[in-house]
Amino acid sequence: MPDGLIFKDRNKLSPHYIPRRLPHREHQISLLHSIYGSMIKDIGNVYPRFTQIVGDTGTGKTCTTIRFGEQLTEQAKKEGVNLKHVYVNCKVDGATRYVLFGNLVRKVTPKISTRSLSPEEMMRQLVEYLKAEDTFLLITFDEIDYFTQTNPKEHIIYDLTRTTEIHPGEPSSIIGEIFIARSLKWHEQLEPGERSTLGMGVIKFPRYTSSQIREILEDRVEESFQPGAVDEDVLDLVSDITANPPVNGDIRVGLDLLYYAGNLAENQGFNRVLPDHVRKVYGGTTPTITSEDIINLDENARLVLLALARSLRANNSAYVGLRDCRESYELVCEEFNVKPVEKFEEYVQDLVYRGIIDMKSLTELGISGASALDLENFLNNLTQRLRQKVDEP
Ligand SMILES: Nc1ncnc2c1ncn2[C@@H]1O[C@H](COP(=O)(O)OP(=O)(O)OP(=O)(O)O)[C@@H](O)[C@H]1O
Ligand SMILES: [Mg+2]
Repeated sequence: MPDGLIFKDRNKLSPHYIPRRLPHREHQISLLHSIYGSMIKDIGNVYPRFTQIVGDTGTGKTCTTIRFGEQLTEQAKKEGVNLKHVYVNCKVDGATRYVLFGNLVRKVTPKISTRSLSPEEMMRQLVEYLKAEDTFLLITFDEIDYFTQTNPKEHIIYDLTRTTEIHPGEPSSIIGEIFIARSLKWHEQLEPGERSTLGMGVIKFPRYTSSQIREILEDRVEESFQPGAVDEDVLDLVSDITANPPVNGDIRVGLDLLYYAGNLAENQGFNRVLPDHVRKVYGGTTPTITSEDIINLDENARLVLLALARSLRANNSAYVGLRDCRESYELVCEEFNVKPVEKFEEYVQDLVYRGIIDMKSLTELGISGASALDLENFLNNLTQRLRQKVDEP
């Protein structure tokens, strides 16, 4: 579909796209530079350094490492060093040690035929090739935890970290290897000897906070949406949903929410994305509020919820204040001819405990598990139906 009123370039919301700037990963990139950058200056005298990168899903491990690899190669080129960064994904490139090493070698050069070689011979030929061509190599093994888990008997870390023993005592053409995993749990699969050559260089990728996510997504919105198509409130809501459980900071979810909310807004003929588009998408994929939850509420609680849903919709906002919600509640009570409860705040609190309402601060209430419009319609119908039952003896 051509991009139009809402989108400028929706491809930029793909989690496979790596933006130029990677906010909140400057520290990790600079750590990597401090480890490998200095090697370039004295390339004839280096011994390999192994680095481990650890962090939850969607914390930018893959994209940061790829960006770093590009920067290092660029730096090497300026200094006249022929350096290659090869990225291998153990989930994609290697079901076994044989397949993985074969793919690794092919990514470095088509000149080595791996067909009849054992994994050990492949590594040996790779090292010989690098020496002969005066080429240096940095290798990233992504999702290494997946490989060691599925191949607990293949001690690849041993092969990978002891390539120097092919020419003992001589400097190495493989300047380093970066191993990426979700946690350090994969060490349990390693032998003591593997663990010791791997070393202790661990770079942590902490989960992004809501405000960090907001900043990352803000850049993406600028690249992918038309100016003004995504309000501040939409960004707030998407960032909070992404930062909090059950998503816990996986930035891919934030990108997806923006993408699908944008599509929905476009299909409904809007020229901008509203918080309710986000709720609708999120509630549709992650139904955290079920109709059962709502039916189980007592009438007062339902009216409080209805008041919040209306107030959010009327303001097109991600959150509303307690006072706005209370005013809306009074109108709702009037409409349904019910006496407002005195313990309004306790009802709000109870809805928060039930996970139906999100309370960002004492003054900001919101809903993320369902579209406010759908919730409003559902509550209107339900309240009327229950009423009729009471009225008709
Ligand atoms: N700091 C950042 N700045 C901008 N975009 C980012 C940042 N971190 C992640 N992203 C975006 O999120 C996408 C997913 O990140 P990435 O693939 O690096 O996560 P990951 O930590 O490798 O996750 P997994 O453990 O699931 O493989 C990236 O392609 C990029 O579009
Ligand atoms: Mg990854």
